[in-house]
Amino acid sequence: MLHPNQSVGVFDSGLGGLTVLREIHARLPQENLIYFGDTARVPYGNKSATTIIRYSREIVRFLLSRDVKAIVVACNTASSYALEAIREMTDIPVLGVIDPAVRSLAQHAKAGATAGLIATKGTIASQSYNTSLARQHGELNLVGKACPLLVPLIEEGYAESAAADLILRDYLAPLAEQGAEYLILGCTHYPLIARAINRLYPQFKLIDSAEETAAELKAVLAEKNILRTEAGGRVELYVSDMTDSMRSMQQLFFQSKVDKFETAQVAEDL
Ligand code: DGL
Repeated sequence: MLHPNQSVGVFDSGLGGLTVLREIHARLPQENLIYFGDTARVPYGNKSATTIIRYSREIVRFLLSRDVKAIVVACNTASSYALEAIREMTDIPVLGVIDPAVRSLAQHAKAGATAGLIATKGTIASQSYNTSLARQHGELNLVGKACPLLVPLIEEGYAESAAADLILRDYLAPLAEQGAEYLILGCTHYPLIARAINRLYPQFKLIDSAEETAAELKAVLAEKNILRTEAGGRVELYVSDMTDSMRSMQQLFFQSKVDKFETAQVAEDL
């Protein structure tokens, strides 16, 4: 039996998923949240499906050992490859970030509109957004572009820089030329480069999955009668590797109070 006081588990390949945690915490401040960032093995975006699934399973086992009541895969790459494998491991609700992003697009875009999608190489190669779009809103065109340089730029604090502008123009010009009106930020880091994108390409309406994912989580918890109502949810963050830059990145991505921020190791999935 699931109970409201159990935590919600959230994970990402690194700290980018904190943009999703931020929205969850804003919408559900009374929930206890446990976040795991696999900072020792980030990025997942250039890795094979087998490795992404293995890493995701290891993290899920860690979260299940903390007795979570739901899991949010706050990573587009892991959501693209590992959702099914995770759902085979547990009966608790497991949410990814791709369906919520596509739902948000479908709510805004008219039939026949073109949307750009920027994401990691892995997410683009998986076609996960196309699959979700075909299921939810067949009449939109999707044009994908892998942007592997954006994650390191953001992590190094270069989101607002001449270098970022140059790279963004190179990645986004083809999407603008193809008439994209919407741009899906298909990677958990990208909300941090949204300002630069808005400045360079004001014609794109940006779609970010974080808010919609938080809304879906709230609906799922409510439906199962496991929304926590007591005040003061705890926020615990765990990473597989801790350095000074992890500490500064944590503050960049998640500004609210954190009750714990420490390392944790996951057991290998052999
Ligand atoms: N969190 C990943 C995603 O949303 C980006 C970083 C990575 O490549 O691991 O796809």
